Amino acid sequence: MGQLESIKAIRASIMDVKCVVDRPEDIEKNMRYIDDGLMLIIDGKIEWVGKWEEGKDKVPPGVRIRSYPGKIVMPGFIDTHVHYPQSEMVGAYGEQLLEWLDNYVFPTEARYSDKDYSKEMSKFFVNQLLRNGTTTALVFGTVHPESVDSLFEVAEGYHMRLIAGKVMMDRNAPDYLVDTPESSYEQTKALIEKWHGRGRLMYAITPRFAPTSSPEQLALAGKLKEEYPDTYVHTHLCENKNEIQWVKELYPDRASYLDVYHHYGLTGCKSVFAHSIHLEDSEWDCLYKTDSAVAFCPTSNLYLGSGLFKLQEAWKRKVKVGVGTDIGAGTTFNILQTLNEAYKVMQLQNYKLSAFEAFYHATLGGAKSLSLDHLVGNFEVGKEADFVVVDPCATALQQLRFDNSKDLADELFVLITLGDDRSIYRTYVDGRLVYTRN
Ligand code: GUN
Ligand code: ZN
Repeated sequence: MGQLESIKAIRASIMDVKCVVDRPEDIEKNMRYIDDGLMLIIDGKIEWVGKWEEGKDKVPPGVRIRSYPGKIVMPGFIDTHVHYPQSEMVGAYGEQLLEWLDNYVFPTEARYSDKDYSKEMSKFFVNQLLRNGTTTALVFGTVHPESVDSLFEVAEGYHMRLIAGKVMMDRNAPDYLVDTPESSYEQTKALIEKWHGRGRLMYAITPRFAPTSSPEQLALAGKLKEEYPDTYVHTHLCENKNEIQWVKELYPDRASYLDVYHHYGLTGCKSVFAHSIHLEDSEWDCLYKTDSAVAFCPTSNLYLGSGLFKLQEAWKRKVKVGVGTDIGAGTTFNILQTLNEAYKVMQLQNYKLSAFEAFYHATLGGAKSLSLDHLVGNFEVGKEADFVVVDPCATALQQLRFDNSKDLADELFVLITLGDDRSIYRTYVDGRLVYTRN
């Protein structure tokens, strides 16, 4: 690449959160909003961010200025829990978790033994992420290693920072969809060797959830984590009351659901537990002590009738939280829509989720929950240039409401309430333009 092609200059309003915080009250004062801003990118990294007037002379002659008047440049959104092989069954009717898995999920996931099908769906999935402004995701594959190969192949083509893993599942699922402790160990190991740390890709050891793994399989998952301490662990926790009861029956010697994972060495600063709705005190303690993270998946939790996530408790306990779409129990790929539902989940618990807080969870907070806050999540100099150009007035109603907004908090809140994929005007990954709205 010639020197000038590796430099990009973006002129627009620019917004991010400057640092990770411990309390929601600290978010607003750490917001940065530059009305007429300039962002300079060199070789996919943030080189300079500030006011246009102060930075315009830094743009080397010959570099085209990409100007987005009326738009807001934000860090790319981070989806901390999503199943790519459930895209084709979003909106399956009428069941709660365990029946929904049996009736809809398992038959759908069986299709991913076919590499061509997996590849086609990987392309669909990654396109959905990008058109919704999501630049990083923590993703479930299926039990088939080829499902993960396909996804990584597609994500690699876009230079995405993506984390994924093959499902480990050796019981309580149909015969056509289970592995064994040994095969899951061998297949996961081979995938880690092939993909973890290749470009921007990373691997997550992915036992589906305690009910579908034997103690032998969880022990081998723990062994993998010991052998590859830098990999992630990604699973489900305390989503549904019947599920929790079932775990107690299957693992009677363990003190709690989370204690099952903890016992096998699966908690830690790179472990993400999706849902975590119905936690006992000791489980909150364990999450905090092990620096594990949880994924708040509001559209899924409402859709499956699972319950209301206690965000206020997570703050109090200093447990890291990201937001997840959880497609296909979740009903949208769009993080704005996901935040919209998060607001309502918190309304039902008398907690006011501010626009700034919501935005934090979708960007820097999400990055922190994935231990990636040194690389992505805001526009600190040296970080990777993953960002979205957001159109706050994509529809007539949004324009009307925007014109009647009193301040930035109001504008941002309206974006979350009314926004969707039409709000995403451009998506950039690693400093490159990867999606353009028609
Ligand atoms: N628990 C175990 N598997 C799943 C899944 O695929 N989706 C959700 N929402 N919960 C799960
Ligand atoms: Zn899930």
